[in-house]
Amino acid sequence: MQCDLERVLFEEPAIHRRFDELAAQISNDYRNHEVTVIAVLNGSLMFMSDLLRRIPLPLKLNCVSVVNYHGKAQTSGEVIFKQVALPDVIGRDILILDDILDSGHTLAAIRDKLEAAKPRSIPLCVLLSKKKPRARHVDADYVGFEIEDEFIVGYGLDFMERYRNLPCIGVLRKELVA
Ligand code: IMP
Ligand code: MG
Repeated sequence: MQCDLERVLFEEPAIHRRFDELAAQISNDYRNHEVTVIAVLNGSLMFMSDLLRRIPLPLKLNCVSVVNYHGKAQTSGEVIFKQVALPDVIGRDILILDDILDSGHTLAAIRDKLEAAKPRSIPLCVLLSKKKPRARHVDADYVGFEIEDEFIVGYGLDFMERYRNLPCIGVLRKELVA
């Protein structure tokens, strides 16, 4: 799998060091509140698991599942929710966790849907954020790493459902994405 990468951006130890920092920041910000984490499947699985075990606070965990990619390396703009019922978030401090902020379509749709359920606050936390103009305006409150606008895989991120189990984050070779 690693030979399909053009180059590695972040090795596992660097990713874990960054999680230590992010977890400390989140733990400090939420020290007086019980947070409900809403993780976006499947991309945030590794991030969720490694980050949440570093946060020593009482919290609730729910997941939402959306489809928007239709197997290609670009976003379609259409975000489909796979489950009928969303978690009960009325009056709660929620924290949305996702793998990557790209065009913004996915997180804008999730934020809009959850906002309608009247949580008290609704910050976003992403493992990666691409430096680019976005189709939808979305600001992440917590960002693991900012990256250039390239197609990357690993650490939960896929290309056609593959590479999620790569322990590093890297740029997929262009001829494989084409
Ligand atoms: P957005 O709706 O364009 O912001 O895209 C968000 C979703 O697209 C993420 O949750 C990922 O599943 C996927 N995605 C965006 N960029 C990449 C990438 O570089 N590699 C793998 N998946 C990506
Ligand atoms: Mg994906």
